[in-house]
Amino acid sequence: MVNYMLPNTLRPDHYDILLKPNLVTGNFSGRINIKFNVIHSTNEIVLHSKGLNIHRNSIRINVLNKGGVLSTVSSLHQNETTDKKDSIKIMNIIETLDDREFLNIELNQEMLEGEQYEVIMDYDGIMKNKINGFYWSEYVSEKGEKRSIATSKFEPTYARQAFPCFDEPNMKAKYSVKLVRPTYDNYIALSNMDQINEEQYNENETLVTFKESVPMSTYLTCFIVCDFAYTERIIQPPKNLGEPFPFRVYATPAQRNKTELALEVGAKIIQFYIDYFQISYPLPKLDMVAIPDFPSGAMETWGLVTFRETAVLYSPNTSSVLNKERVATVVGHELAHMWFGNLVTMKWWNELWLNEGFATYIEYLGVDQVFKDWEMENQFIIAELHRAFETDAKLSSHPIVVNVTNPDEITAVFDAISYSKGASLLRMLRNFVGNEVFRQGVTKYLNKNLYGSAKSEDLYEAIQELVGDQMNVKDIMYTWTKQMGYPEIIVEVAENSTDVLKITQKRFLLNADDVSDKEDSVYGYRWTIPITYITNLDPEPKLKFFPYNNDTLKIQLDPNTKWIKFNVNQNGYYRVNYNKELWSNLIDNYQNFSIADRTSLINDAFNLAYAKRLDYGVPLTLSQKLINESDVVPWRTASSALYRLKELLHDSEVYPKYQQFVLQLLQPSLQKINWEPEENEPHLHRHLRISILKLACEFEDPRCLEEAGQRLKSFVEDKQNVPHQDIRSVVFNYGMWSVGTQKEWDILWERYLLEDDAQVKATYRNGLAHARSTSLLSRYLTLAWNPQYVRRQDYVTTLTSISGNPIGTQLVWDYVRDNWDAIVKEFGLNDRYLGRMIPDITESFTNERKLNEMKDFFAKYPNAGAGASARKQAIENVKTNIKWLERNLLDIKNWLDKNVKV
Ligand code: BES
Ligand code: ZN
Repeated sequence: MVNYMLPNTLRPDHYDILLKPNLVTGNFSGRINIKFNVIHSTNEIVLHSKGLNIHRNSIRINVLNKGGVLSTVSSLHQNETTDKKDSIKIMNIIETLDDREFLNIELNQEMLEGEQYEVIMDYDGIMKNKINGFYWSEYVSEKGEKRSIATSKFEPTYARQAFPCFDEPNMKAKYSVKLVRPTYDNYIALSNMDQINEEQYNENETLVTFKESVPMSTYLTCFIVCDFAYTERIIQPPKNLGEPFPFRVYATPAQRNKTELALEVGAKIIQFYIDYFQISYPLPKLDMVAIPDFPSGAMETWGLVTFRETAVLYSPNTSSVLNKERVATVVGHELAHMWFGNLVTMKWWNELWLNEGFATYIEYLGVDQVFKDWEMENQFIIAELHRAFETDAKLSSHPIVVNVTNPDEITAVFDAISYSKGASLLRMLRNFVGNEVFRQGVTKYLNKNLYGSAKSEDLYEAIQELVGDQMNVKDIMYTWTKQMGYPEIIVEVAENSTDVLKITQKRFLLNADDVSDKEDSVYGYRWTIPITYITNLDPEPKLKFFPYNNDTLKIQLDPNTKWIKFNVNQNGYYRVNYNKELWSNLIDNYQNFSIADRTSLINDAFNLAYAKRLDYGVPLTLSQKLINESDVVPWRTASSALYRLKELLHDSEVYPKYQQFVLQLLQPSLQKINWEPEENEPHLHRHLRISILKLACEFEDPRCLEEAGQRLKSFVEDKQNVPHQDIRSVVFNYGMWSVGTQKEWDILWERYLLEDDAQVKATYRNGLAHARSTSLLSRYLTLAWNPQYVRRQDYVTTLTSISGNPIGTQLVWDYVRDNWDAIVKEFGLNDRYLGRMIPDITESFTNERKLNEMKDFFAKYPNAGAGASARKQAIENVKTNIKWLERNLLDIKNWLDKNVKV
C-alpha cells in the first residue's frame, strides 16, 4: 500500500511566498521560504510539489535559533571541505513521479525534535492551458483587446502546483505573500490579506506585499493579478463582534455594474453569519472576484473568494430569476465557509462533509434571511435532500465519512453525498435537537477549534453538552454517517389493535433486485431514526426515536385519527411507506398539507413505486392533485419524477397515453400562466412559470411548442425581439426543438459568439444543443472542442446538454468514446467533471446492448481517475433502467388505460 500522507515529523509554521506571473508568456516563477518545526527528529524534508521546475541549486536549509538567528547553512553543492563538521548537507533531492506528488529532500543528518528550520528555494512553472493551480485566464475587453490575468484555485490538492508545501488540510500555517504585477494597464494584485506595501520591482513591474495571514490550510490561499474593477461596502459587524471592514466585489471593468446584487446579498449574509455564529470575521477585508475561466462554481479562498461569472454576476436586464437564485445561494455557500472550512477545517478529506455539508446547509439559512419569500426551507428539499436520496439509494453510494487517500479519491468525494447528504443530516439534527441548541452547539464547536481542524465527533460532543442525557447525539448520528444509504419506514396497523401503528425499517434501494450485504456495515443497514408525525387531531409534530437495534416501533393512536403523516416536512433523512388505506387518506388530504409535506408525499410515492415498494397507482393518483397545485416546489419534485418516467417510457407503446396524462395535469396551470411576467410579480411565481413551461414543452404540448417556436423565429428575424430573460431558455431550447433549422441555428451561433454575458451565453449554448438535426449537433460537437468558441470550463456541460437531447445522445456517446484520449489529455483524469459526464450521458440507456458498450468502453480505458465511482453509478443506473422496464410497464399501462381519457 502506498502511503500518501506526509510523515508526521514536521509541521509548517510560516510561508514566505513570492510569485511572479508572466502575463505574456503564461509562465511564472516563484521563491519560497518555509519555516517549520520538527515534531520528531528526521533527516528528510518531505513536501508536496507538482509540475514545478525546482531550481535544485537554490535550495537552502537553515537552522533557526529560538531568536530566529541562523546557525547553520546548507545547500546542495556546498564545498564539503570548508564546512563545519556538524553542518547539514543535502544528500539527495527526489521528486516522486507517482501520484504522491512528493518532493523529498534528504539530509546527511537529523533535524532535531523541538527545533525550527527553514527551507528556501526558487522554482518556476506554467500557467498556460491550465484551469487549476496557479493559472492563466483571458478575456476580451470592451475595446476588443485581449487581456490576460493570473489567478488560482487550489482545493483540494493543487496548491502544490503553485508552491512546494505541506499540502494537507490540517497542516495550517501563516502566509506572507508577495506578488509581482505589471505596473501599467490598471493591473492590481490580490491575495487573502490586504496589501501593505507597493514598490518598484523593475522597469515595468511592481512588487506588492500583503499582510501576514492568520493560520490556515494551503488550499485556502489565493493569488490574483488582474485588471478588474470593484464595488465596495463597509461591513458593520453586530456589537462586540469585530471592527468594520471593507467588502468588495471585483469583475472585469465592463462588468462592474453586474456586481451590485452579490455585494448587497453578500453584505447582508455576512452580517447574519457573524451574528448567527457569534464569532467575528477574522480578516481585515473580504473580496469576491468573478473570474472568466473557473474550474468549479466558486471557491471559498479566505478573504478572496473566487467565482465563475455565472455564479456571482447579475444584471437586472438580462439575468433570470434562476440566475438570481444561483448567485444568492453560491454567495451564501462560500461565505458560510469563512467559518466552516476556513476558521475550522476538517482534519482530513474523509470528513469533507464538515466543510461542504455545513456550507450547503448554512447557505439556506443565509439566503432565507435576505429573501424571505423564496421558500428556501422548501427549496432545500428538492435541491439537496432529494438529490442526496437519488445517489444514496444505490449500491454504488458510500458512507459520508469515507477513506480517501490519493488526489483522485479526494476529488471524487466532492459529491452529492458530502454536500447534499451532509446538509440533509445537519438539517435533521437541527430538527431533533432544536434550532437554538443547534446554533449554540455549532458556536461551541467553532470556538473550540478556532484556527484548528476538527472531526465529526467534535461537533457531536459540542451539541451533546447542550442536550444533556436526553439523547446520545453521537450514537444517533453514527448510524447515519458510518454507513451509506438510508431507510424506508413501513407503517402498518398492528395485528391486535387498530389504534396502534407498527413501524419497521428497511434500507431503501432504487433497484428492486438489489440486496445489501448486511456484513458491510456495523449497523447492518439499520438506523436510529427520529420519527416525527402529525395527525388530523394534532398539527404539532411529535418526535420518537426508533433505535437501530429494535425491530419495531409502536405508536398509539387516538381512535378519532383520520390521517397520520410521518416525517413532518421531510425533515428526516428517510422515506415513509404506508398501507393502502393510510396512503389514500393522505392523498385525500393533500391540499391541507404544508408545501414541504406535499413535496415529500410526491417524492416518496414516486420513488417507492420506482423501487417496486408501492403500486404505481399511488403516485399517479397523487399526481392528479397537481391540477390544483400552485406552488413551485411540489411542482418541481413532480416534474423530475414525471420527466424520469418520460425517459424510460419514451420508446414504448405506453408513451402517448402517458404524455396525454401529464399534459392534462398541466392544463390548469398553463391557462393561468402568461409567457411574460408582470411587473412586480412575486419571485416564486416567476420561478413557477419557468418550471411549468419547461415541463409542458418537454412533453410537447402543441401550443407551448408553437409559442416557443414563434418567439424564437421573431428573435432570429430581429434581435430586438429578445425574449424576456426568465423564459429565454424555454424559447431557445424548445423553440430550437420545434422550428430550428440550419438558419436559426447559425444565427443563434453567431449571436452566441458576439455575446459577452456568461449567463446569456450559457442559455445560447443550451439552446443550440436542442436542435433536432444530427448534422447540426455533430457540427456543434466539433465547434465546441475549440476553446475560442467554448471555454474549457464550459466544455463538459456543453457535451452533457447535447446528450440530453434524445437526438444527440448517441452522437455524444460515440464522440466521447472515439475521442477519449484527447479529452483526457486536455482535462486530466483528476478533473471533477470529466468522470461525472459518463453517468449523465448514459442515464437514458435502457438495454443490454448499451450496457455492454459501456462495459467495453470502461474495459478499454481501465483508469477512471476521479471518475471511478461515477462509472459504477452509471452501470448501476442502466441496469436499474432495464429491470424497471421489465417490471413496471404493464402496471403503468393498466393504470393509464383505466384513468386517462383521450
Ligand atoms: N469548496 C468548493 C469548491 C470546490 C469544489 C473545490 C470541488 C474543490 C472541488 C466550493 O465551496 C463549492 O462547493 N463550490 C460549488 C458551488 C457551491 C455553491 C455548491 C461548486 O463549485 O460546485
Ligand atoms: Zn463549498
